[in-house]
Amino acid sequence: MARGCEFLGSETAILCGAMSWVSERNLVSAISNAGGFGVIACGAMTPALLDAEIAATKALTAKPFGVNLITMHPQLFDLIAVCARHGVTHVVLAGGIPPKGSVEAIAAGGAKVICFAPTLALGRKLLRSGADALVIEGMEAGGHIGPVSTSVLAQEILPSLADEHLVFVAGGIGRGEAIAGYLEMGAAGVQLGTRFACASESIAHPAFKKAFFRASARDATASVQVDPRLPVIPVRALKNKGTEAFTAKQIEVARKLDSGEVDMGAAQLEIEHYWAGALRRAVIDGDVENGSIMAGQSVGMVAKEEPVADIIAALLAECEGALSARTGTPAVAA
Ligand SMILES: Cc1cc2nc3c(=O)[nH]c(=O)nc-3n(C[C@H](O)[C@H](O)[C@H](O)COP(=O)(O)O)c2cc1C
Repeated sequence: MARGCEFLGSETAILCGAMSWVSERNLVSAISNAGGFGVIACGAMTPALLDAEIAATKALTAKPFGVNLITMHPQLFDLIAVCARHGVTHVVLAGGIPPKGSVEAIAAGGAKVICFAPTLALGRKLLRSGADALVIEGMEAGGHIGPVSTSVLAQEILPSLADEHLVFVAGGIGRGEAIAGYLEMGAAGVQLGTRFACASESIAHPAFKKAFFRASARDATASVQVDPRLPVIPVRALKNKGTEAFTAKQIEVARKLDSGEVDMGAAQLEIEHYWAGALRRAVIDGDVENGSIMAGQSVGMVAKEEPVADIIAALLAECEGALSARTGTPAVAA
């Protein structure tokens, strides 16, 4: 993990991926204070709200943390300026190919740029365009997902890029043995979301946490696309009434598209706003029936509420145990 730690400025190269509504000051500072790397989820926040969230996080930790910005945010460049003003060290660009000038603007503000690479070709392109590190995220993950599994992405991308570049692996990681495997393949570190979402320091509603503790891997299903003209990015969440309501929402938006009431861009934004609202209902209000309980397939390995420090210690002990077993050296007590 040394390369990853050096890049992040953290003790361990375990990132807690940004989770809208969940990854706010409390969880982010707890992750960074425990030696990991916390990332604020900006989501649909305004620049003023992001400004306040970064300031509040800085008040809780002196360790580095990142900010995750969604590329389709209409005020992306204002948000980048807010990060620069605060001296945020790392900005993660999520939700699509970074728009022209955004990578340069982040670098000009002094921060490192981390991008999601959905394929090897795009990964190469992002690195050429100035990305300092990549995250490859498989479809086992919670939240918005691509079509390919983590294990296949890792095999396709790590052998070509990991020697010379920093690549972090995400999606479906619940235990340290899996971290050991990806490190051996050349990853600089890993990113987990689901495993941290219900930590003691997470502000998620007790009902949201309870749903996680009860769920098994097969409950975390990907949403289906209803209309071939309306390409929606699939979202992995626990099955409930809300996942059914999403199907109805897509039909409603497709009708609006038919009637010319909205264009494709507006239609897709409406879908994204739907998710942001639905996630808030589950995470903040605790409405686990109708809200969206975004969760990855590793949810079955989340059994109880634990402090972030214990989760990180367990992951490191498992990782170290696996690596020592392979080399025949006894594991050092964590
Ligand atoms: C509840 C939840 C909300 C998420 N929200 C976001 C988000 O706003 N932006 C983002 O880039 N990723 C988001 N993700 C993905 C995580 O950052 C992370 O990459 C993912 O959870 C890693 O896979 P895992 O869930 O299998 O550990 C979210 C994941 C979850 C579980």
